[in-house]
Amino acid sequence: MAADVYERVMDLARRRGFVWPTSEPYGAVAGFIDYGPLGAMMKRRIEETWRSFYVVREGFYEIECPTIGQEAIYVASGHVKGFSDKMVQCPHCSEYLRADHVVEGGGRCANAATLDEAALCRELQGLACPACGDIFGPVEVFGFSLMFQTSIGPGSQRTGYLRPETAQGIFTDFSRLLRFYRDKLPFGATQIGKSYRNEISPRQGMIRLREFTQAEAEIFVHPLKKAHPNFARYADYRMPLLAYPQQQAEAPAVEMSMAEAVSSGTVANEYVAYYLALTHEFLCRVGVSPGRLRFRQHLPDERAHYACDCWDAECFSGRFGWVETVGIADRTDYDLRAHAAHSGDAFTVFIQYPEPIRRSETRVVPRMGALGPRFRGQAKAVADAIAATDPTVAADSAGFTIEIDGAPLEIGPDLYDVREVEVEVQGEEVMPHVIEPSYGIDRILYAVLEHSYDEEPVEDGTRTVLRLAPPIAPIQVAVFPLMNRDGLGEVAVSIGDELKAAGVMAEYDDSGAIGRRYRRQDEIGTPFAVTVDYDTLEDGTVTLRDRDSMHQVRIPRASLAETCRMLCAGQAYFAELE
Ligand code: GLY
Repeated sequence: MAADVYERVMDLARRRGFVWPTSEPYGAVAGFIDYGPLGAMMKRRIEETWRSFYVVREGFYEIECPTIGQEAIYVASGHVKGFSDKMVQCPHCSEYLRADHVVEGGGRCANAATLDEAALCRELQGLACPACGDIFGPVEVFGFSLMFQTSIGPGSQRTGYLRPETAQGIFTDFSRLLRFYRDKLPFGATQIGKSYRNEISPRQGMIRLREFTQAEAEIFVHPLKKAHPNFARYADYRMPLLAYPQQQAEAPAVEMSMAEAVSSGTVANEYVAYYLALTHEFLCRVGVSPGRLRFRQHLPDERAHYACDCWDAECFSGRFGWVETVGIADRTDYDLRAHAAHSGDAFTVFIQYPEPIRRSETRVVPRMGALGPRFRGQAKAVADAIAATDPTVAADSAGFTIEIDGAPLEIGPDLYDVREVEVEVQGEEVMPHVIEPSYGIDRILYAVLEHSYDEEPVEDGTRTVLRLAPPIAPIQVAVFPLMNRDGLGEVAVSIGDELKAAGVMAEYDDSGAIGRRYRRQDEIGTPFAVTVDYDTLEDGTVTLRDRDSMHQVRIPRASLAETCRMLCAGQAYFAELE
């Protein structure tokens, strides 16, 4: 099934309302999708689970920034200049293609994204164009910006860009976030929302979208203190890591604990290791198969321009191989430094020392005896301005100019001294480093669909089943009357209402044979089904069926809603009822 699992999953996704091509009446556009009713519901559930980890548990409050940003943001971040892919145009069919993907597809190089233009040209020369099949021959490779450009307001005076990542909104809100978190490190903020990249030729369905949903956390930490305060939570957490040396040696991933990963230098610091483990836990919770999940370290020439260590959580797909779904990076102070330089704002945190320290500093010291008679009522303001002057400006003994009430004032060398003075220092300004776990929600959703998809032989043929985790399944409980007569339908409808009142997403279905109804729900991953039959009318019990084992138990209607609520929240297990 591996090779065509993608077709099967996407066929199911289209038929049953998970994912649709967008704007079909006008012809779909590559790189854009619609989520149908079940897909939208499942996506929200993945996002809610993400919030339960990052917002509720980690305490990183969520913010929401515009998806269009003014040009200055993306000039500062480096995206306007450097966020591009290398493109080639086929000289035979004129198709535009991503050069590194063509080279990788041609089997010439596993990591062609690290090759420069000249090397890509050499590699492409003998390869066949994937669109028309002709050999490229001599071609040119050039950079293509992935930024969607727009204009803000009438007259196109102001350039804007659709954001390529949600992160920049958090960086530009840094000072307000710092105040919100009472001026203390570490703190973090999160954002879930759409981002945009004008991909050259997205041919991989949900894996490469031009509009996609990111869930990102930006965690601001002291640059010299990268020991995570809660590292103990994941110190013994074991998972497979494919570090740089293993990739060089073409060796498999090595399973190790996060404590070993940090102490051996495999992972740069405890913060990165903590979020690697949290990401592993999250992905397994939402239904990524642990056997088809690995964490791969970026090669030095593969890392983004801002990162000093970066790992990808990769999920295996029968069609696409290992696919990046989450990136976990130490972005250092790259972004805050860039925004400070371009905006003139500080982007620093004042860190108070436990005890003030005394040290000797060169200062400009006003001569009060000379200032008083000369400036009278203004003497204090003049003295303060002199004291605030940079000693290197005052050091050449030719005097300098200050400003008092908006007017320039010449200060001669007879009014001050430049000398060493003993000062008490309370603390220092530091520019935090940023640890960033960045999740691609659409890719995670696809991986969960593919890893959950199963075809199982049963008595009357084969059943297709999505083995979705109950908290992620779009419909959580199906409610069936055995037959729609003798009042069974009315009882089933009212049981459905009780389930909904308990917060369980229930769906009523009375059409067709009961076996077919089970199959329909199995196919969309509904974990539980309740059947109302004649015994229900007699003794008030219903059957509760488990999707995966297909086992059934009879339980009283009175306890059904609470039982289902717990099963669907992952707080109870069906086997415990048997
Ligand atoms: N914020 C990281 C990324 O979008 O790739």
